[in-house]
Amino acid sequence: MIQKPKGTYDLLPEETIKYRALENHLIKLLENYGYEEIRTPIFEHSNVFHRESELSDMVVKETYNFLDKANRSLTLRPEGTAGVIRSYIENKLYANRGITKLFYLGPNFRYERPQKGRYRQFYQFGVEAIGAKSASLDAEIIALSYKIITSLNLKQVKVKINSLGDIASRTEYKKILTNYFLPYKEKLCPDCQNRITQNPIRILDCKIDQGQTFVKNAPRPLEYLTPEALAYFNDVLGYLDSMDIIYEIDDRLVRGLDYYGHTVFEVEAHIKGFGAQNILGGGGHYESLVSELGGPEISGVGVAFGMERLMQAIDAEKIVIAKEQRPDFYLLYFDETTKKAALSLLIELRDLGFKGDIDHLERSFKNQLKQAINYNPKYLIIIGEDELKEDYYTVKDVSTEQQEKLTYEQLIKKLGAVK
Ligand code: HAM
Repeated sequence: MIQKPKGTYDLLPEETIKYRALENHLIKLLENYGYEEIRTPIFEHSNVFHRESELSDMVVKETYNFLDKANRSLTLRPEGTAGVIRSYIENKLYANRGITKLFYLGPNFRYERPQKGRYRQFYQFGVEAIGAKSASLDAEIIALSYKIITSLNLKQVKVKINSLGDIASRTEYKKILTNYFLPYKEKLCPDCQNRITQNPIRILDCKIDQGQTFVKNAPRPLEYLTPEALAYFNDVLGYLDSMDIIYEIDDRLVRGLDYYGHTVFEVEAHIKGFGAQNILGGGGHYESLVSELGGPEISGVGVAFGMERLMQAIDAEKIVIAKEQRPDFYLLYFDETTKKAALSLLIELRDLGFKGDIDHLERSFKNQLKQAINYNPKYLIIIGEDELKEDYYTVKDVSTEQQEKLTYEQLIKKLGAVK
């Protein structure tokens, strides 16, 4: 038997229906906020993700890279932002608008160690607001993230926020960190030993070294913000306060991608049994990503949520998102002639928008009835010899068990009344 690749999963119909309901819920919310959907390719030229400044594990170690038949280097997207920015630039979306507000939904691929809430193919629901460096826009994205989670009725939602400052702040902070970590070099993993000079911020986020006391005690980015960067951060917090968003400053938060500057944040919900996977979404502000990918000097801010984590959180909290859609009817017949009449009615009722089905295997009436019970329709419609001759339908309300003879018009009215 061939099995699915490690870190992937199948969504069977009863799960898919819940995902569809979740997607519809999120899309409606985002459209109300004025965001429009964008769909970009699942694979991109590798240099969309593998940029000189991007040294995160996620991009350096966890991407699926391959050469196509013409020897082009391509990468399955590990996240949505870089591809959306590539498209924003290529399609010159910056030309005629102030802030471009986009959302997207789709699969991403990371070669990670699979565990609950962590897959090699996973779905993200993401949002990007591109075109301005604005503390209130950063705050709006955080407020939106908070709203996304609370709109799902998830409780104990927490927003953790930090600032990595502007380029000057980060340059200074990196110098301080390099000097701080140099004496501990031998105690760091081989990758972090290289990071000391190249990109010491990543050490704070390293899966291997994160737990070491000297890493925990390392200087924090907030301590090295320039006055301008600090003022920007305080503005973001002020806007959050004015929108009544509850947040917690986490001065150790650095996020797992290197394109962030200024605001970074994550949204958690405290859900029993979730452990480290209680981070439902995360995002932040990026100042150089658009220009690095060949666009103008424009900032953006965004967030992405893991759909599987959202769904698992909803399930763990026993929140019902997909309303049960009981079919309208099931048709029962007795022989070839009544089957044909039933099929004709089936098509007509479906054309009118009613959901129903019939047994195609010509089972006995008793066995058709068993099928019907499994299908759980609101009404059973029975077509027999008498019904055909006298031009009526026998209709049984499955809930009340009441049975009546109805003309076609009365039947439509009845089905319509319960929709
Ligand atoms: P990220 O934090 O890497 O950010 O991913 C966002 C969310 O995707 C995570 O909080 C988590 O819920 C989900 N996620 C990440 N990896 C996995 C995985 N292997 N399995 C299941 N779920 C996963 C980004 O991707 C940024 N692009 C967010 C962003 C948008 N920043 C600015 N704009």
